[in-house]
Amino acid sequence: MASVPSLASTVQQRLADGLSAALPDAASADPLLRRSDRADFQANGILALAKQLKGNPRELATKVVEAIPANDVLKEIEVSGPGFLNITVTDAAIIDTLAARAADARLGVPFNESAGTTVIDYAQPNVAKEMHVGHLRSAVIGAAMVEILEFTGETVVRRHHIGDWGTQFGMLIQFLIEHPHELDHSSEAEVSGEEAMSNLNRLYKASRALFDSDEEFKTRARARVVDLQAGDEETLALWQRFVDESKIYFYSVFDKLDMDIRDGDVVGESGYNDMLTETCRILEESGVAVRSEGALCVFFDDVKGPDGNPTPLIVQKSDGGFGYAATDLSAIRDRVQNLKATSLLYVVDARQSLHFKMVFETARRAGWLNDEVKAVQLAFGTVLGKDGKPFKTREGETVRLVDLLDEAVDRATTVVREKAEKVGLTETEIVENGQYVGIGAVKYADLSTSAARDYKFDLDQMVSLNGDTSVYLQYAYARIKSIFGKAGDRTPVAHAELELAPAERALGLHLDRFAETVTEAAVEYAPHKLTAYLYQLASLYTTFYDQCPVIKPAPAQDIAENRLFLCDLTARTLHQGMALLGIRTPERL
Ligand code: ARG
Repeated sequence: MASVPSLASTVQQRLADGLSAALPDAASADPLLRRSDRADFQANGILALAKQLKGNPRELATKVVEAIPANDVLKEIEVSGPGFLNITVTDAAIIDTLAARAADARLGVPFNESAGTTVIDYAQPNVAKEMHVGHLRSAVIGAAMVEILEFTGETVVRRHHIGDWGTQFGMLIQFLIEHPHELDHSSEAEVSGEEAMSNLNRLYKASRALFDSDEEFKTRARARVVDLQAGDEETLALWQRFVDESKIYFYSVFDKLDMDIRDGDVVGESGYNDMLTETCRILEESGVAVRSEGALCVFFDDVKGPDGNPTPLIVQKSDGGFGYAATDLSAIRDRVQNLKATSLLYVVDARQSLHFKMVFETARRAGWLNDEVKAVQLAFGTVLGKDGKPFKTREGETVRLVDLLDEAVDRATTVVREKAEKVGLTETEIVENGQYVGIGAVKYADLSTSAARDYKFDLDQMVSLNGDTSVYLQYAYARIKSIFGKAGDRTPVAHAELELAPAERALGLHLDRFAETVTEAAVEYAPHKLTAYLYQLASLYTTFYDQCPVIKPAPAQDIAENRLFLCDLTARTLHQGMALLGIRTPERL
């Protein structure tokens, strides 16, 4: 469980040693090390330092290089251009570092020393409504953040803030009271997610139609909302039936998504009911919120409507009802005070950014958020169709998530089947791999661009074997596994004494960056950085595979062993990285 210092950090340390030996006064200067194509690393920091000291940068650079103590990590440091350092590390240093990573079950990824508790609000569909691609994004990005943060030592509490409250329930419940058998199940057999959703859909449509056409029903439905909010038992029992029916559906979709959503983590809007009055009282008494035309409002200098008048956050409506803001503010109190969160992460559509900006600012004014507890919206962009417009069916309706997932799996299964004979896959394996590849493709597409950007949902591209897709990575992994099947008695052994080929060096240097990439993805809430890393890893592996034979033609024993070592570490890194993204890596594909 030891964290392994990366070569970058070792090189950085050597340079810092040289700097402080050559220029004791500038000991704290940053050498500004980064990866480079010219050499392994480049350091540009001496330029700025020379400017500051009014010295000649090349001379200074030379002095620093001369002051670096002899060591077995740096092979060559060349002063180039106006005063850059081009740094090449030794082949032995690469293999030694990788061997240390390989010896660690965590591949040398460090635990965050200042880890805290993060509550992640993600995968939050709405009761009695179909899930759409927006809910998919929240679920996929949120699940990846859960894994990445937990892996770096953070305590993570999951919260699925489902939409299970609101005026629409008055209409639904009233309809069910008047049509009591509408949610009955025809048989004792377990209801499928699909059936559950179609029941809810039918009920939703029928009650909506009545609500819009029948004034008396409308009045009864409105009265029912009051009963619900007052906690009337019969009304609550019926409400619960809608929630339960919806959960059957939600869980079936999450299951399809190969995602583990636990019932105890589903705390929807209704879960904060008991706190709403208190939240309002605190906000009003502290002066954070004020009454305006009967409503309880929070105002912001920089939030104005098109007419130039301030747009407040409404915490309580003038009729006494509570909305989305009151629930979210109460949830913050719960998460900070009861769950002891140090970070709150909300994986929610960018179109709700104004809401969260106002909610967070209100919570700050109330003191619930402060220097010790931060809140961040990991805002994601819109999913677009191939035409670049928000994703809709040809009829202009929202695309059903289930249909999309089924189609992704269908297409993936076709792709898998085409290659299946060569690999000798059984029918069961084909079906299973089809799911892993199809669902992986959907997740990967979501995770491979920065969340904030809109992205095009293009299944053809997603399951393509060439390019930045999960299938490409999954094939790279399976290919490595198949090499081990052919390796006979040769096993992976790190040989630091060998001279490495360029493709081996490039692969090795990249493998060494896994730990810092995971850390970066965790700290910046940026799973796409891990995705980009893994894609590059697979690409570098492909080049290595083409240029450096492992089995045929058989290289010398030590070279073969060392290559197998690189193969093995690549496979483990791919497997671990993909697992953090929620994507499976089948052993045979
Ligand atoms: N249910 C909401 C929707 O479908 C998302 C909830 C986001 N989370 C929150 N704490 N407001 O848009």
